[in-house]
Amino acid sequence: MLRQFLDGKSGDVVEAGSGTGQHVVEFARHMPEITWWPSDLNAQHLKSIAAWRTHAGLSNIRPPLRIDLTDPSWCQEMHDGSGPEKLLAVFCANVIHIAPWRVAEGLLAGAGRYLRADGRLYLYGPFKRGGKHTAPSNAAFDSSLRDGDPEWGVRDIEALQELAASAGLKLIEIAEMPANNLILVFARQQAA
Ligand SMILES: C[S@@+](CC[C@H](N)C(=O)[O-])C[C@H]1O[C@@H](n2cnc3c(N)ncnc32)[C@H](O)[C@@H]1O
Repeated sequence: MLRQFLDGKSGDVVEAGSGTGQHVVEFARHMPEITWWPSDLNAQHLKSIAAWRTHAGLSNIRPPLRIDLTDPSWCQEMHDGSGPEKLLAVFCANVIHIAPWRVAEGLLAGAGRYLRADGRLYLYGPFKRGGKHTAPSNAAFDSSLRDGDPEWGVRDIEALQELAASAGLKLIEIAEMPANNLILVFARQQAA
């Protein structure tokens, strides 16, 4: 999915909520023209990302940014010239359902602020369509998330579209992924 858009292009891509950092290493290996900026909020995860970056030895992975997605401006480096240029893409997997809604708000707001005119936001995970789960396993997962923290939970595509609209973005594609996951692709409302 990412390569459909990124192949043949160059530029900066932020991965939001990178977790261990293993995914960004794979992306960077397969898409060497792209400069990858992993990020996370959690100190242990930032250490893990740094370790995976060192282990991979790839010149197109930058040191992890400490981005707290509840902050719509993400982090200082995004706007003081020490971080990425305007972004070709933002990729975020398995984050917004395992976090309060304000994380989705900050993610979309930041994407609206930092994406290039032709940029894309890729959102991977389980989602509800029209208020309904797409599989019984997602419904069970949603219940277990909400039992652990009532602010967490599988998100509605329609609610995300509303957030996107307020950030100047629109949903342009929904792609089915294995295990009842989806990738939602957002672009600028006035895409270049
Ligand atoms: C389930 S993990 C997903 C990691 C990775 N993207 C993956 O798919 O394996 C969720 C990640 O979101 C991060 N996270 C949670 N709240 C966050 C926030 N407010 N800002 C940035 N990252 C956050 C966590 O630290 C964690 O690394």
